[in-house]
Amino acid sequence: MCGIVGYSGKQQAAPLIIEGLKRLEYRGYDSAGVAVAASTAGAGSATALHCLKKTGRVANLEQAAAQAPLPPSTCGIGHTRWATHGGVTEANAHPHLSHDGRLALVHNGVIENCDSIKKFLLAQGCRFRSETDTEVLCNLIAYHYAKEAEPATTAAGGDGPSQRLLSAVRKTLRHVEGTYGIVALCVDAPEALVAARQGSPLILGVGEGENLIASDAAAIVSRTQKVVYLNDGELALVTPTSLHLSGLNAVALEPVFDEITWSINDAQRGDYAHFMEKEIFEQPAALENTMRGRFAADGSTTQFGGLNLSADELRQVDRLLLCACGTAWHACLVAKHLIERFAGLPVEVDYASEFRYRNAPLSPRTLCVVMSQSGETIDTLAALREAQRKGHRVLAITNVVGSTIAREADGGIYQHAGPEIGVASTKAFTSQLLVGAMLALHLARLRSLSFNDGADYVAALRAVPQLVRQALEQAPHIAQIAARYVQAADMLFLGRLALFPIALEGALKLKEISYIHAEGYPAAELKHGPIALISEACPSVFFVTRGELFSKVLSSMQEVKARRGKIIAICTTGLELPADLADEVIRIPDCHEAVLPIVATIPVQLLSYYMARELGCDVDKPRNLAKSVTVE
Ligand code: F6R
Repeated sequence: MCGIVGYSGKQQAAPLIIEGLKRLEYRGYDSAGVAVAASTAGAGSATALHCLKKTGRVANLEQAAAQAPLPPSTCGIGHTRWATHGGVTEANAHPHLSHDGRLALVHNGVIENCDSIKKFLLAQGCRFRSETDTEVLCNLIAYHYAKEAEPATTAAGGDGPSQRLLSAVRKTLRHVEGTYGIVALCVDAPEALVAARQGSPLILGVGEGENLIASDAAAIVSRTQKVVYLNDGELALVTPTSLHLSGLNAVALEPVFDEITWSINDAQRGDYAHFMEKEIFEQPAALENTMRGRFAADGSTTQFGGLNLSADELRQVDRLLLCACGTAWHACLVAKHLIERFAGLPVEVDYASEFRYRNAPLSPRTLCVVMSQSGETIDTLAALREAQRKGHRVLAITNVVGSTIAREADGGIYQHAGPEIGVASTKAFTSQLLVGAMLALHLARLRSLSFNDGADYVAALRAVPQLVRQALEQAPHIAQIAARYVQAADMLFLGRLALFPIALEGALKLKEISYIHAEGYPAAELKHGPIALISEACPSVFFVTRGELFSKVLSSMQEVKARRGKIIAICTTGLELPADLADEVIRIPDCHEAVLPIVATIPVQLLSYYMARELGCDVDKPRNLAKSVTVE
């Protein structure tokens, strides 16, 4: 949610920053801007800050920069915004300049005591141009900077401007309540950037004669894979050749260097029309990666390097709490089904945003697990902290190595699905389903699952990439179906047991990217209300599989048919459906119940994708949404 890029090096900063912003656009696309420190009239002239901002996509900013280039500069900051404080206007776009024009700031997060700080600054004569909390923060830094630069301070041999900027940022942050990831640029220190983080991620990219700062690795991975993750409460002073970390208490800190394990190619769209399409089709590979190294060669054991819980400790667990938001919450519902079914452990699934406030009683032997693709969702992070505050160890299932949730959790499982750029989650969701299935197996094996049942389960998991490949072969057929149903006003998705969460996911996907209203229900719930919606304009998608509920699902379908509702059946191979019951049939391979939710997800992803595409929607950047929700 909102993207930040900062650059200090030898190259021209503005084009590099705009390129980085394009890679972060999925984090917000209401407006974008860039600011550089440069002198306009050749050597000897005074340096000034130059800022360019545009509402709408980063492409608008890029176009404006091509028409009226910013003066040459090798240091600058940029931002792509998802509006929180203040509407979508150029004035509210970042970077924000201080009222004296000497400082520029980009900011992700929310400053909660913004009003009182603003009152103080107004009393000092400060004037504001925007409605944002970021401009308030920028001016408070400028206020402290001006004080740092006063003769009384500098006379005693004082610090250079970059140190003074650092000190001003530090003083400011001591007065700030809320969350922030910020980068500041000052006219007096045109090669230096000061970054700080509290609750909103920042990553430092360490290059050759250049250093970068970004809210997300996607913005910097084309220049370097060597990174330092900034922790909450830390500040960084960055120049082309140096990187100094310190705390809010000014104590110097040693940077811990990490390596990003994926490359820029993984974050490129290639020949696909959209990232979402690419990510749907790369699911077989993503699922391979999620499983890699996690089964013993003979399939007899499941290995998770990072659980940090011994087999005995896991045997002590008598209950699980799974917390997440959105799509990840759907994955938790499937995991609940599998854990209860195979490991016999009761599982509760909670929305992270509710758990954090509802003071849920947790029995001592409850194992808490949070699930988050980005590892940065603020509600999920808060749920993790709440469970830890109650004395529980918390495991995290996340896709982003080094993310805040990954680092604050007591252990966990990485999804290794590769970077997900499309705002609507696809490959991250199926890899979450897979991790949930593997966790269920792991817990079941520590309890009563027989060796043979365990071996069958492992064989089923190993087959998943191939099953998903088969399901993807239906894409052309699904595209034709999508074209026939794009006029739908509403749509229902209906599934039972572990496919009910997939019905929820199908409905969410369709809503998000096509703006067609959709709902997911357990099929049997139809007659308790949703059936009132059924008409020719409200088609229903049913998941139909073999087993004891097959005939019950058929009855639900008949109820729809009797009311002239159209039916799209997603049906496992080999099942005979009564003639004329379904208007459309999409076949998926029949498989073990632990992997069926993964395979059944593919057609609903494709259906939503093709319907949105038919409607001409901006699939990768649906309106009002942003990836990685780092505000409450
Ligand atoms: C929907 C979607 C969201 C996320 C939710 C949680 O397609 O992507 O519902 O699942 O915002 O995000 P993470 O998993 O990053 O915590």
